[in-house]
Amino acid sequence: TLVSNALSALAGSETVPLSGRPKSVEAFAEMRAELADDPHRPTYHVTPPANWLNDPNGLIHWNGRYHLFYQYNPTGPFHNTIHWGHAVSDDLVHWEDEPVALSPSPDGPDRDGCWSGCAVDDDGTATILYTGGRDKKQLPCIATAADEGLTAWRKDPDNPVIEEMPTQPEVLRTEHWDGEFRDHCVWREDGVWHQLIGAGMEGGGGAALLYVSEDLRDWEYRGPILTGDRDTAGTVWECPELLDFGERQLLHVSNYEDVVYFLGTYEDGEFDVERRDKLDHGDFYAPQSMWTDDGRILTWGWIPEARDVSAQWDAGWSGAMSLPRELALADDGGLCQRPAPELKALRGANVCHDEIRLDGSDRRTLDVDSRAFELRATVRLEDAERVELSVLETPDRDEYTPIRYSHTSEISVDRARASHDPQATSATQRMRVTPYDSPLSLRVFVDGSVVSVFANERHCLTTRVYPTSEDATGVSLSAESGRATVASLDVWEMGGAWSAEPRE
Ligand code: FRU
Repeated sequence: TLVSNALSALAGSETVPLSGRPKSVEAFAEMRAELADDPHRPTYHVTPPANWLNDPNGLIHWNGRYHLFYQYNPTGPFHNTIHWGHAVSDDLVHWEDEPVALSPSPDGPDRDGCWSGCAVDDDGTATILYTGGRDKKQLPCIATAADEGLTAWRKDPDNPVIEEMPTQPEVLRTEHWDGEFRDHCVWREDGVWHQLIGAGMEGGGGAALLYVSEDLRDWEYRGPILTGDRDTAGTVWECPELLDFGERQLLHVSNYEDVVYFLGTYEDGEFDVERRDKLDHGDFYAPQSMWTDDGRILTWGWIPEARDVSAQWDAGWSGAMSLPRELALADDGGLCQRPAPELKALRGANVCHDEIRLDGSDRRTLDVDSRAFELRATVRLEDAERVELSVLETPDRDEYTPIRYSHTSEISVDRARASHDPQATSATQRMRVTPYDSPLSLRVFVDGSVVSVFANERHCLTTRVYPTSEDATGVSLSAESGRATVASLDVWEMGGAWSAEPRE
């Protein structure tokens, strides 16, 4: 107790910056409490206790609990010396911090960072494969759980488990990297472990490289299951993930800009592409998925900041995890994406309207005063050119974030008036929502600075906005150049994901 008193005294002290604090669960609770008044901080999304978060890692349901690890820098709100942060949940919506799970070893191949990777059940032993960064090298490392709570991990003394990068194709070397070769997706097929590693090819585009192994330690290279054209699919593919929908398979890769998915068939080490699109049209990157016990695929992605680095420093934290979304194959063979039904457990006070008729002249302000809510509505554009749903709106509309649905079958989020802060990005983001354009079923999740739009359980756009006014908490609706109907509109206040008290 002496030590923990000393630690909490340190954690509570005004003079120690968040980045200099110890990495205990108690210290994390203190950091969360200190950041709780930040209006831009999401409350029902997974966030770092303070400091930096990027990709979701090692998602696994283990001993009845859901584990979400993530790329974490405990030393500040910037990307450096990456550790694996760790959060656990019993229900996928309420989360608790665990101590940092994985830290770089001063003499190890992961000295400069424990980068992205995945977790598997190796015959009763939780095992992770992750990328170790050291100098200019990025190579695969393995670790096994040392306890049932997955809080401690034993790194394999023989790490890295793959020492040479393939030459067919030749892996891209840059000024910074002795080979763009990282991130892991591991599955078991016909009694053999299979692994994808993301890569860039010399003179070409991205590639998802396949390896096979009997024991997760000795890997045999098989070649790329898919390569991309540099001009249309990016120079490097990070965080590849292959998901099996039964009849079809989905491969997604992150190409520094977007998450591109390919739907098609994967067989014998080759992926045949039938369709291709973006998984999300906004700020969403490096997703990873988990299978639930009832056979659903839930996917989380990293939601980066959309404001200057100095604003992230001032905030003391950077990055949030997306809400879990369920991916499935739709009846027409396309990809269905919907918010995980578990999220309904967070719904609280409700505002409900059976039908709102809009015509070009008026704006309907709803009885909402919130930065943490879910809105669900069905929108029909009668003869209107577009409908605008405005969130995070001040009473005088000095700041507001309009989500516009237009008859050209496009949804846009215009950030020009979202914030007066010149450090916040103001660019408009857009997505096409054809062919399911009318009526449009919308689910919008607002949480501090995160706005996520799900349209017709198909199309997603996740974005960041940073209103400066305290009263940017309103919601209004309007139609332009004609009439529109909004049917069955509900707004729910959403409860928080983090309990206020540190765990016993
Ligand atoms: C994707 C990524 C991965 C890498 C990790 C490092 O955002 O660049 O490729 O493993 O982040 O934090």
